[in-house]
Amino acid sequence: LATVEVDLSAIGVGEAVKVMWQGKPIFIRHRTATEIEEARSVDMSELVDKQADAERVQEGRDEWLVVTGICTHLGCVPVGTSDGEDKGDFGGWFCPCHGSHYDTAGRIRKGPAPKNLAVPEYTFLNDTTLQIG
Ligand code: FES
Repeated sequence: LATVEVDLSAIGVGEAVKVMWQGKPIFIRHRTATEIEEARSVDMSELVDKQADAERVQEGRDEWLVVTGICTHLGCVPVGTSDGEDKGDFGGWFCPCHGSHYDTAGRIRKGPAPKNLAVPEYTFLNDTTLQIG
């Protein structure tokens, strides 16, 4: 499918899901106020791949983080989406293959991955429907 629609009403605050789009895992996280604040307050000098949170989410919809779930090191799928999975040291995702830690904006913070998790093309069709692609 060229595009995939996701019902956001089923994803509670603090929860995340994984959907497939064009054969790739896409992570969608409904961020808590604390997670948003953590993502915004990071000093850019601490970042490997320097991107502000505002560059990675849509204005007015920053409770939703949408990223491609493929580690930018060697392509494993990080954990941290499902309940109980290790979110790593920065509360986002952890790649168990070689130990990369991503933050609540999907940015690489520690470990060998060189880049932030990619942000795919997506659109909000309405308040509860996200279209990926
Ligand atoms: Fe993720 Fe190496 S593939 S850390």
